[in-house]
Amino acid sequence: MSLDERRWDEDDSAVYRRMAAVAVPARAEQIAVVVALLPFGRDDAFRVIELGSGEGALSAAILGCYPRSEVSALDGSVSMREQTQARLARFGRRARVGPFRLEELTGPEGGRLDAMEGAGAVVSSLCIHHLDGAGKKRLFEGVCLRLAPGGALLMADVVEPVRPEAAEVYAATWDRATEEQALALDGSAGRFDDFVEQRWNLYRHPDPEVDKPSPVADQLRWLVGAGFEAVDCFWLRAGHAVLGGYKPGPVRSGAPVGFEEALACAHAELEGSSG
Ligand SMILES: C[S@@+](CC[C@H](N)C(=O)[O-])C[C@H]1O[C@@H](n2cnc3c(N)ncnc32)[C@H](O)[C@@H]1O
Repeated sequence: MSLDERRWDEDDSAVYRRMAAVAVPARAEQIAVVVALLPFGRDDAFRVIELGSGEGALSAAILGCYPRSEVSALDGSVSMREQTQARLARFGRRARVGPFRLEELTGPEGGRLDAMEGAGAVVSSLCIHHLDGAGKKRLFEGVCLRLAPGGALLMADVVEPVRPEAAEVYAATWDRATEEQALALDGSAGRFDDFVEQRWNLYRHPDPEVDKPSPVADQLRWLVGAGFEAVDCFWLRAGHAVLGGYKPGPVRSGAPVGFEEALACAHAELEGSSG
């Protein structure tokens, strides 16, 4: 990566926080899908790493749904870490917040992230698309190497359309979802206008130095190549997908957290952060 290549910065963090409540399609549902797919029972003790935690809503939903879980929420942005820290404070020592650079996880065998060693799951939302295809592939390999047997890598993120027709469908459905969510939030299209002005719909306004989504099929192949099984695209809407896979190992025995319960956790976390 060249030194002058543009990366996510604090201005992006501020714009994202302003828009996320409307600009992320079915945000609570995406969080709930990741939470419900974790390979653990509600009462299991396990450790999760979140890459690019932003305001910490996904980490908080995991901590809320699984009372014996511990989460390390990592982000490259100082202001995002402050938000995560504030949100997760109520979980005490079960939550840790720290810095990381995504690019450092793409070296041989997944670069350096000791915290990942033996973790039960690595999760991420809207962050890994900042890596190019080769970077994602190496990240998947490093995560599979380091996860505990039976652990999972679960990612919610934008994906690359494989045909121009699909690009138009992703662009149009993302606009539509954002407009609907803006109207539902405060009865006005103001936040949708903001989304349009910020040229946030990357299917209409690609910014390849920052956004490097990869096709679903490629990512599933890289996950299988990295050693994951039960690899799948579990959810997709408006160009946003939840993808992942499971490292071979023991299968969960405890009572699962169901999707509706996970959705309630996600809504509880997002409530009040939409203003
Ligand atoms: C679009 S936000 C998503 C935040 C949160 N996960 C969510 O879904 O609401 C992307 C997050 O990834 C972080 N990020 C982006 N590029 C990064 C990088 N290269 N290294 C570390 N963090 C990065 C940003 O600081 C930001 O918090």
